[in-house]
Amino acid sequence: MDKATTLLFFFFSTLFLTTSLAKHLCHKDDKNTLLKIKKSLNNPYILTSWDPKDDCCSSWYGIECDEATVNHRVTSLVIQGGEVSGQIPPEVGDLPFLKSLIIRKLSNLTGHIQPNIAKLKNLTFLWLSWTNLTGPVPEFLSQLENLEYINLSFNNLTGSIPSSLASLHKLGYLELSRNKLTGSIPESFGSFSGDIPYLKLSHNQLSGSIPKSLGNLDFNVIDFSRNKLQGDASMLFGANKTTWSIDLSRNMFKFDISKVILAKTLQRLDLNHNDITGSIPVQWTNSEFQLFNVSYNRLCGRIPQGGDLQRFDSYSYFHNKCLCGAPLQNCK
Ligand SMILES: *[C@@H]1O[C@H](CO)[C@@H](O)[C@H](O)[C@H]1NC(C)=O
Ligand SMILES: *[C@@H]1O[C@H](CO)[C@@H](O)[C@H](O)[C@H]1NC(C)=O
Ligand SMILES: *[C@@H]1O[C@H](CO)[C@@H](O)[C@H](O)[C@H]1NC(C)=O
Ligand SMILES: *[C@@H]1O[C@H](CO)[C@@H](O)[C@H](O)[C@H]1NC(C)=O
Ligand SMILES: *[C@@H]1O[C@H](CO)[C@@H](O)[C@H](O)[C@H]1NC(C)=O
Ligand SMILES: *[C@@H]1O[C@H](CO)[C@@H](O)[C@H](O)[C@H]1NC(C)=O
Ligand SMILES: *[C@@H]1O[C@H](CO)[C@@H](O)[C@H](O)[C@H]1NC(C)=O
Repeated sequence: MDKATTLLFFFFSTLFLTTSLAKHLCHKDDKNTLLKIKKSLNNPYILTSWDPKDDCCSSWYGIECDEATVNHRVTSLVIQGGEVSGQIPPEVGDLPFLKSLIIRKLSNLTGHIQPNIAKLKNLTFLWLSWTNLTGPVPEFLSQLENLEYINLSFNNLTGSIPSSLASLHKLGYLELSRNKLTGSIPESFGSFSGDIPYLKLSHNQLSGSIPKSLGNLDFNVIDFSRNKLQGDASMLFGANKTTWSIDLSRNMFKFDISKVILAKTLQRLDLNHNDITGSIPVQWTNSEFQLFNVSYNRLCGRIPQGGDLQRFDSYSYFHNKCLCGAPLQNCK
């Protein structure tokens, strides 16, 4: 072989080597685990691409691997929107490098949240939604210290919210909306070890009063709507907060709003269907609202004129004790 041919040969053999390597990037342990998961879910149609002949990292549906730091281990698993029946397979716990687990829109997925998820110490993102999962919000989640995002909304979870979740110091988003959770919001949530800018617990059967200490936190979004919460919620407000949205609608909250000062950042405020008293503070005309609703409470007095408060029609104000002024009828 002359020099050029040698080079050419070398070039093509490396090319061949890299392409054949590229086909087998997936770590064999992860591949075996995923094939067990597929089998355990009765080989559903949405997992057809999980073919043992192909590389799981590059050609399987819903799989991502990390090339840079962990040498092609599976770091993300997404199973969503197909005809999948059964329970979350225990083998999901055997993907030790998994960072993101998303299982959603599977109406025939039943059973409890798989306890082996507790083994996934690297998990940062957990999204299990729109399934028929039952049982509790597992206590073991608090052992997954890297969790930044938990969304278990739209399931059939029961029981109370584990107070231990407050120890998750990296958690920035917690959504447990649209389940059948009971009990109260844990006292521990007032001393969350991290910032918890998003807390969404709507459409459950939570009861009792909310911990005073929640006032120490600065939420971005709070949604406690459609529960059976009662008592004071004024501590959630304050001039120095950076809250954008507060939805407390359809509860049994009972407090006086006359002295409640809103953060400049607040753009959505929904308090409808509670037992809230007092009159609307003039300070509220300083806010720029996208959504404003104080209907179905026991408010009284003149609606302050100015700012955004007259941008909303009477349906934002109706069914109160004696509110008056635009957009309602004139005060007597
Ligand atoms: C759920 O299961 C029922 C009964 O086996 C079946 O008729 C239905 O098509 C399934 N739906 C989905 C989305 O898998
Ligand atoms: C998590 O990731 C680290 C490295 O990023 C790795 O050493 C460890 O084995 C992984 N898995 C578990 C379960 O800790
Ligand atoms: C749960 O299953 C019931 C039928 O048992 C079905 O009507 C409902 O849509 C399912 N829920 C979800 C969120 O898929
Ligand atoms: C949480 O899950 C619900 C239901 O799938 C979804 O509507 C919502 O956008 C999710 N939240 C985030 C921030 O992803
Ligand atoms: C989940 O809740 C829905 C709506 O309340 C209900 O139709 C369904 O039967 C429940 N599923 C299970 C498995 O309990
Ligand atoms: C709000 O911040 C200002 C300036 O930092 C401070 O003087 C004031 O005491 C704070 N108010 C509350 C209610 O924390
Ligand atoms: C305010 O809430 C009431 C009661 O749910 C509803 O009828 C009304 O349409 C809402 N108004 C706005 C502007 O959202």
